[in-house]
Amino acid sequence: MNETHVLRIDSVDPDVGVLKSAADILRAGGLVAFPTETVYGLGANALDPLAVARIFVAKGRPVNNPIIVHVADLTDLPRVVADWPPAAQKLAKRFWPGPLTLVLPHAASIADGVTGGGPTVAVRMPAHPVALALIRAAGVPLAAPSANRSGELSPTSAKHVLRGMGGRIDMIVDGGPTQVGVESTVLDLSVSPARLLRPGHITPAEIEAVIGRIGRAGVVPESKPLPSPGLLARHYAPRTPTECLAGSAARVAECLRQGEKIGWLTFEAWPELPVMTVIMPNDPAAYAARVYAELHVLDELELDRIIVELPPDEECWLAVRDRLKRAGMKS
Ligand code: TXA
Ligand code: MG
Repeated sequence: MNETHVLRIDSVDPDVGVLKSAADILRAGGLVAFPTETVYGLGANALDPLAVARIFVAKGRPVNNPIIVHVADLTDLPRVVADWPPAAQKLAKRFWPGPLTLVLPHAASIADGVTGGGPTVAVRMPAHPVALALIRAAGVPLAAPSANRSGELSPTSAKHVLRGMGGRIDMIVDGGPTQVGVESTVLDLSVSPARLLRPGHITPAEIEAVIGRIGRAGVVPESKPLPSPGLLARHYAPRTPTECLAGSAARVAECLRQGEKIGWLTFEAWPELPVMTVIMPNDPAAYAARVYAELHVLDELELDRIIVELPPDEECWLAVRDRLKRAGMKS
């Protein structure tokens, strides 16, 4: 593949005529990156094994890492899941379209690559007019992991996608920056009780308010083996060596003394430390919306190191802390 076409589109009221070329590519087995409310996804027809295989090649993704399938309407579900239990119904009613992904037994029509060869599939309905219009125009459920090279930072703008995937995919639908900023919450409904596999914008407490107690054992990225085949420890990482820690000012000062060029993501300005400082919001949702974009910028500056002040160990920061810890892990 050589050229990646970028298609601009209104993110609030997308023109279906403009999306036709993207839908044609998808139906023909090609790859199209598109905006969701969380991050940009790299879409392929989830029912076409060859199209799905192209995702793995383009991303350099390990083949045992399953992919989330995106639907636009509940009537798409029989082609994706083999079972739609009451818990799924209740959660979809409350959170879809939205950043909650449900893991359930997969339908026979789903391509093997999507499931990683396992018995389940992850499915969600994204809350983004462009994503929904594109899925409907394509007429098939779309398998779509985040549109970045495997292990690298997730893209929250078309520019990020182009930087990582330009020349490797057919098209990018540019609907502007994404709103939520971190990937969806992933909940495994194929086990009982349901289990959180990846924290996201929708919190465990919000889920428990709908279906009762869920397991959170999955969320221990530091040392234990990871429960979801795709939850590789080092994920979402800048190319620049990155460290995330509480009380990071001392570490910044130490690296400065060693003559390093530092980028620092933190909550307050320290004018006496001459580093490229990005002051982040104290609100978890506002922080999540910006964190990947800021890391992308710092990653472009050819710094020796990126240091991130870890937000407090509180449930409202669960998703952000999860991504930051992964960003700071050695490969
Ligand atoms: O917000 C999002 O979820 C974005 C946008 C594009 O929708 N997508 C995304 O996809 O982050 P990806 O492929 O980068 O992450 C998929 C996550 C991984 O942690 C993977 O392990 C998990 O979902 N997953 C997918 N299928 C699964 C399955 N059958 N069982 C368990 N985990 C699964
Ligand atoms: Mg990803």
